[in-house]
Amino acid sequence: MKALVLSGGSGTRLRPFTHTSPKQLVPVANKPVLFYVLEAIADAGIKEVGIVVGATAGEIRAAVGDGSGFGLDVTYLPQEAPLGLAHAVLIARDFLGDDDFVMYLGDNFIIDGITPLVEQFARERPDAQILLTRVPDPTAFGVAELDAAGRIVGVEEKPARPRSDLALVGVYLFTPAVHEAVAAIEPSARGELEITHAIQWLIEKKRDVRPTTISGYWKDTGNVADMLEVNRSVLESIEPYTGGTVDADSELIGRVRLEPGAQVRDSRIVGPAIIGAGTVISGSYVGPYTSIADNCRIEDSEIEFSIVLCDSHLDGVRRVRGSLIGRNVAVTPAVRIPASNRLILGDHSKVQISS
Ligand code: DAU
Repeated sequence: MKALVLSGGSGTRLRPFTHTSPKQLVPVANKPVLFYVLEAIADAGIKEVGIVVGATAGEIRAAVGDGSGFGLDVTYLPQEAPLGLAHAVLIARDFLGDDDFVMYLGDNFIIDGITPLVEQFARERPDAQILLTRVPDPTAFGVAELDAAGRIVGVEEKPARPRSDLALVGVYLFTPAVHEAVAAIEPSARGELEITHAIQWLIEKKRDVRPTTISGYWKDTGNVADMLEVNRSVLESIEPYTGGTVDADSELIGRVRLEPGAQVRDSRIVGPAIIGAGTVISGSYVGPYTSIADNCRIEDSEIEFSIVLCDSHLDGVRRVRGSLIGRNVAVTPAVRIPASNRLILGDHSKVQISS
């Protein structure tokens, strides 16, 4: 069994975080989403992984390397343009050979991993197995319709009028039967070769396509509330660790992960929280469900239920909550007289000020 991970795409920038980095590298609890994908694949006992890359190939390669850090053997498969998920299967044909494979979209996150699914698929070998999850707005996804017995009736890509609230999750298990389907379909109205159409083709040809419904699913939709929520649920299960230094005037409460080189001075950190390597927290309070990445400085500030990316700086800022702060950001107080807010914000930024 092989794995095909999709990390191409146009590099369309969704919001401040993805202005400067591919969406597959958006961090959850200080780790890129793509790394959880690769770890889940390695945990399922798969070694050979093809990663489909596009415009952001350089950043993906720099982050993943040859895959040995994950116990994987990675082959990069350049895709000349984001021509669709089924197009990615087409260009991976030589890499995949006649092996079964799991196709995993590099911006999808499944909290419990994929090991039982891969094991079940290897045992039963239906032609294809798809994962479904209930979502509030199915129009943004592929959507499946099941009959009363839970068998699959059909799948549609981003329908205006969805027949159910069961979205296709970006993890698909295939036998080589999918290659015939991928070769048979035409590009969709949005000009992409859709994997949903290939699955519909298999269903119409009466091939064995099995659905499994899961919970604990997240994808990068550019929705900040979702991102804070997935960060929260991953932090729930972190192991406490103190790789950095904590002075006598500081207190770590609950599950706090302090990466090597992090320093905590005269501060209080209430977990679950993660503090990245080289980050300095001084005279501050860091509250639950907060991920602070590497090389940040949090001074004389209070922050909780938030994500801060690397190289950012908070100084003298009270009560930051439910916030997403990008790389190399500086947040400092404004001068008191005249009372005013001074903002220098990039495109697509969102700021809520309490005053
Ligand atoms: O996330 C689940 C959804 O993923 C499914 O419900 C949909 O049925 C499926 O079509 C897909 O929808 P999206 O339109 O959201 O896919 P997106 O364009 O975001 O691409 C998903 C991943 O695949 C992303 O990591 C980029 C990568 N990709 C995408 C395309 C179109 C490629 O590597 N090559 C491509 O050509």
